[in-house]
Amino acid sequence: MNKIFQIAIDGPTASGKSTISSIIAEELKIAYIDTGAMYRALALKAYRKGFDSSFEDGINGLLDDISIDFREDGVYLDGENVSDQIRENHISLYASTISAYPKVREVLTKMQKEIASNKSVIMDGRDIGTNVLKDAEYKFFLIASPEVRAIRRYKELESRGDKIELDKLIEEINQRDFNDTNRKINPMKKAKDAMEIDTSEMTVEEVKNFIISRINE
Ligand code: DC
Repeated sequence: MNKIFQIAIDGPTASGKSTISSIIAEELKIAYIDTGAMYRALALKAYRKGFDSSFEDGINGLLDDISIDFREDGVYLDGENVSDQIRENHISLYASTISAYPKVREVLTKMQKEIASNKSVIMDGRDIGTNVLKDAEYKFFLIASPEVRAIRRYKELESRGDKIELDKLIEEINQRDFNDTNRKINPMKKAKDAMEIDTSEMTVEEVKNFIISRINE
């Protein structure tokens, strides 16, 4: 494939988006843009300033002077590799809260569109197929049962040495799903022309093969 093309992957937390997207990016030799990482990077910047996630004006102000970029070895915030810090659990809910702020969405969406403007990308998030890359050639919406998602997230955190009770994790996932689905601007939603894939009972390999076969159709 020589032509520039875009793949949009949306879905809730721990539906398998980032694992699948990074594997597909490697296989198709295109860029992978994890838009959640951008909301997380802003969340980290605000958290480090000591801001409460409800301090909308303060958080908006940070957008005037922020650099977020994707390099070979990870996500950089203002020149620092923050790939591990943005995955810490307290950043997840913080990122979800601030992602509802209009200015936050406006600025990050603009950055995302720019990144995808001149190259082939696979981009994952909550509003890629409905907003950021509305004209993407390929759109998928991944889902998985709440139990499967909670266990996946639990294992991910455990492997990083982060201990959190499963019950608390389920509560947080529900809270984030609620926030992300019910915010006013660009809520998480399956685009009309997206294909839904339930990954609960599928291996990573199966999901990857399914998506690649659709792209090659
Ligand atoms: O995909 P993630 O869990 O890393 O995303 C963290 C939060 O960022 C998520 O709860 C909502 C927000 N987000 C968003 O609002 N829009 C996106 N395109 C990606 C993430």
